[in-house]
Amino acid sequence: MNIDDFKIERYFSQYEFTAKYLLSSSDCDGYSVKYLLDHASSEELSAWENQKLGYTETKGSPELRRAISGHYQTMGTDNLLVLTPGEGNFCLMNVLLERGDEVICMSPMYQSLYQVAESIGCKLNFWKPEYQHNDWYYNPEQLKAMVNKKTKLIIVNFPHNPTGYMPSSTDWDQIIAIARVNNLYLFSDEMYRYLGTNPNYKLTPACELYENAISLWGMSKTFGLAGLRIGWLASKNKAVLAKVEAFKDYLSICNSGPSEILSTIALNHSDKFITPNNEKIAGNIKHFQDFHQRNPDLIEFSVPRGGSTAFVRLNIPKSTMEYAEILVKNTGIMLLPAETFDYGTDFVRIGFGRSNLAEILKVWEKYLHSGSN
Ligand SMILES: Cc1ncc(COP(=O)(O)O)c(C=O)c1O
Repeated sequence: MNIDDFKIERYFSQYEFTAKYLLSSSDCDGYSVKYLLDHASSEELSAWENQKLGYTETKGSPELRRAISGHYQTMGTDNLLVLTPGEGNFCLMNVLLERGDEVICMSPMYQSLYQVAESIGCKLNFWKPEYQHNDWYYNPEQLKAMVNKKTKLIIVNFPHNPTGYMPSSTDWDQIIAIARVNNLYLFSDEMYRYLGTNPNYKLTPACELYENAISLWGMSKTFGLAGLRIGWLASKNKAVLAKVEAFKDYLSICNSGPSEILSTIALNHSDKFITPNNEKIAGNIKHFQDFHQRNPDLIEFSVPRGGSTAFVRLNIPKSTMEYAEILVKNTGIMLLPAETFDYGTDFVRIGFGRSNLAEILKVWEKYLHSGSN
């Protein structure tokens, strides 16, 4: 298989465990095993202690699928397939797509969501946002105009990484209708579901609204438990899920049992994980607004509608890649530049899920005023 490098992940692999300050992470700080187990009931603790370390069910344990199902209106345990988030994407593209198919995907977007389709030999058509002063808009009318006879799949991601964009419910209904009228599959990456501070932007998962939609969600972002490596596909289309399950036999085969139990506990006590994450995101957005007010000429920023990130324009004479490289060398601050999203040279992603954001902004500001940039 011939596949281009996954630029975001390659860039993170250079700095994620060496740079002193991470200002672009999309996840929230990871919770500890102790924090998680402190919220477990006595039955859940007993299940954890007695968990056998053998192979597990390919679909995901019944207990885990029951806990996941509780977070949907119409997804029963047999509408769910548990796997790692990236594996979900990889398997799904492989079972749905063939060389020559056309795929509509958002730009910018988390690269694996379109790169796998391209490596299969599909033609990608990018749905681009309208942009004004850091306000992003994905216009469903444009999406509608992009569909043609060869289109097989639409791929969307809301809350959106990196812009934090969320459609209104009217626009969301229109996106779903475009898929339905044209009989297209809709892959909806909902990894950031429930994250965000604006109560006006909450979406019903695509899998609840359309029979050929497949939603992806997991423990990594919403729950602050990325290290569990647990995600799932949810769909009314059981035939597609069955094909993905068979494809998974060539990858992980089954999930890690300890991760399944820990995920089940977190899903059964979800508020204990999601509420602190959203409080942290809200506090950090406030810090970033203050930073923006103090440095209005450096950046264009407006509060994202959802998720844990913003894509912020830097008004600098250098490319964002050049600037990010200089900044990390001089201050230890890692910024993720637009180049890693194949989206020009003017934006950086800011992540609001880490508790040291205010401290990092102080270091950045000191550097800005030192005259050495
Ligand atoms: C939109 C999106 N989908 C999927 C993933 C994959 O999640 P994970 O890193 O837990 O595999 C990410 C991770 O950043 C993401 O941003």
